Amino acid sequence: MARIFVARRIPDAGLNLLYDAFGKENVAIYPEDRVIPRDALLSGVKGMDAILPILTDRIDGEVMAAAGPRLKIIANFAVGYNNIDVDAATQRKIPVTNTPGVLTETTADLTWTLMLAVARRAGESERILRAGKWTGWGPMQLMGSDVYGKTLGIFGYGRIGQAVARRALAFDMKVIYASRRPVDSGLDHKTHPRAVDKKTLLAESDFVSIHCPLLPETTHAFGAAEFDAMKNTAYLINTSRGPVVDEAALVDALKGGKIAGAGLDVYEEEPKIHPGLFECENAVLLPHLGSATQETRGKMAHIAATNIVARLKGEQPPNCVNPEVL
Ligand code: GLV
Repeated sequence: MARIFVARRIPDAGLNLLYDAFGKENVAIYPEDRVIPRDALLSGVKGMDAILPILTDRIDGEVMAAAGPRLKIIANFAVGYNNIDVDAATQRKIPVTNTPGVLTETTADLTWTLMLAVARRAGESERILRAGKWTGWGPMQLMGSDVYGKTLGIFGYGRIGQAVARRALAFDMKVIYASRRPVDSGLDHKTHPRAVDKKTLLAESDFVSIHCPLLPETTHAFGAAEFDAMKNTAYLINTSRGPVVDEAALVDALKGGKIAGAGLDVYEEEPKIHPGLFECENAVLLPHLGSATQETRGKMAHIAATNIVARLKGEQPPNCVNPEVL
């Protein structure tokens, strides 16, 4: 019977599918609710037919070698798969799968949570109130910036970027985007999203929201030069991957007034946070919650498990990112 290694407990919607297909005794789950240590990962995957990692697990050639020749699929519990060495998997003819689609709207909602929170100083204001320092309503107190009617610049116009743009319609925003390829988003409204180059995006946007994947060419796509090119009244939002932003340069930009604020869900070296960010009242900092709803995490678990069941039954896994191996 096939054996599956699950690197961290995921919702039952996925586990039950694996139990039904392979028997509970053949599904090994790392028992602790924390990121699996490297040595436990290397020993846990030994002899497995499938690995179900989460986005903090680095799955490289060493892990694939440790798993051994039975390994037939790596089913990531995330849409982003920068934690997996896909080339190493492809060389070994191992399909890698992700969980696209199901987390699009949820991540777009979280992006808007950050946009609204940073523009209206929600984090900073709540800290004041909770500290018992609120002295009552004041005409000049904690004034933020309007969101409606402003220009939203989306960097990376894929599924999530487009879902963020759709929400901007209700806020009467002008939407522009920079994307590697032209996109027909099907949006039809008076502020139809306009494709622009990165320079224009930085110069015109009141909010810049990052939605590209992490690739060598997007690593530090936002650094000192980009913050200089943004309006000093503009906000940066990042719900993609931390290393797309040079965090040290962002701290300098926030402290130096180059930009007005930042809403971040992802960080360069999670769970470590650049200490300078804690000193920035104009930063709203969330702990990588993009897809974190009951509904969406259940769907992600179901998709990851579905890919494993399909592959181990000899069928095409539906969400393969390196289909050339099939
Ligand atoms: C979350 O960050 C994901 O890529 O699914």
